[in-house]
Amino acid sequence: MTGFANPQSYDLFSPEALLNRYPLYKRMREEDPVHYSESFGYWVLTRYRDVEAALGDERLSSDRTALFINQLGSLDINLIQNFIRVTSKSIIERDPPDHTRVRKLANQGFTTRAIESWRSIIQNTTDRLLDNVENDGCMDVVSDLSVILPGLITAELFGVPEADRANVLKWGVDIATFWGAPGSSNIEEYARKADFAIAQFSEFIRQLIEERRRQPGTDMISLLTMAYEEQGFNLEELVSQCVMISNAAHLTTTDLIPNGVNALLHHPDQLQKLQENPALINSAVEEVIRFDTAVPFLFRIAKQDLTIGGKDIPAGSVIALGLGAANHDPEKFNSPEVFNIMRSPNEHLGFAPGIHFCLGAVLARMELTICFTTLLRRLPNLKFNPDKPAIPRHTSLVFKGFDSLPVKF
Ligand code: HEM
Repeated sequence: MTGFANPQSYDLFSPEALLNRYPLYKRMREEDPVHYSESFGYWVLTRYRDVEAALGDERLSSDRTALFINQLGSLDINLIQNFIRVTSKSIIERDPPDHTRVRKLANQGFTTRAIESWRSIIQNTTDRLLDNVENDGCMDVVSDLSVILPGLITAELFGVPEADRANVLKWGVDIATFWGAPGSSNIEEYARKADFAIAQFSEFIRQLIEERRRQPGTDMISLLTMAYEEQGFNLEELVSQCVMISNAAHLTTTDLIPNGVNALLHHPDQLQKLQENPALINSAVEEVIRFDTAVPFLFRIAKQDLTIGGKDIPAGSVIALGLGAANHDPEKFNSPEVFNIMRSPNEHLGFAPGIHFCLGAVLARMELTICFTTLLRRLPNLKFNPDKPAIPRHTSLVFKGFDSLPVKF
């Protein structure tokens, strides 16, 4: 290996990196922007221009089955047979031309009419959760709000009965933990839980689809089921789409809420600016997505030999696209380490522009806008809780958030 300043020290799972990844990203970008990690067995891109180009590169596949198997190491592949069966059929893992077909179908769940109906669901759910804590003078942004809110909203969107919501949330977390941890030492435990969870979740969704086929409603499962009825019904694929959309919908937003509150509380001048001028909320939301990217890494597989940044990457290689690192690249952003809610332009890569551009970006932006606006309006004295430190999540490379973020008001 050549060109590595000190490859052993690029430990993305070190406690310091999990606490604050940006200094490590900076070093990698400056010293070895197309880095091969021997210990993880994959390439890591950290420059904006490389990541942006990779997102649009048809020589890279989104089918990450090889990565999931690779991360098992010497463990038996059967450990994740349900996981692979379900994820491999989902929109997020498909390449064109199949991806184009599946994306058209999935789009049917995101009609203008559906999107408009979400606004009141989000507002009411946010208000309900804040009602629960308002008189306490303190809360945990994660356990009292961000873990519950997107899950409840997704449950509403999907028409999930009240009694099943806790299960849906738990399954989603278990699936994401395995998904997000390539390179982690706890992989066997994560794999077992994820495989069990996805089997349960798929069966649950299958039953909902059968119900909605008999009695369609206006929820997303009904909309997707109708779209599939028109285009040739494929139950296995439809189940995969629903499982994937549901997971994508709540896990990411769950992280961006505390990431945003944390950024605002660490920058009181920006918080004050937003409180004085709530119309800045849209650019504040974009800055939160850039500044503390909730999905800092995406994985792709090289379909053929290629060269990136002067490094030869053989076919079959796993490549980690550092969205979080790219979003702090000074070649693209002026003073990237500065949290500036008025940043313009702000062409962040947080929603992965390209053919897999986040299908739920409209919903995600709506949720974040309503959540932050309501929080600041109802709890104007929001501050960190000095008695309880925040706990950043330490299990995931793909999802960046907090296990706990205690605040007072
Ligand atoms: C702030 C929250 C969110 C962030 C940061 C986010 C981020 C992303 C990213 C980075 C991707 C690309 C994945 C890849 O190429 O491997 C993606 C794809 C996707 N997202 Fe989101 N997402 C968010 C919220 C949502 C919501 C609320 C939904 C659904 C209601 C959703 C549904 C999807 C779907 C279905 C895809 C796959 C699109 C495709 O493969 O064509 N996301 N998202």
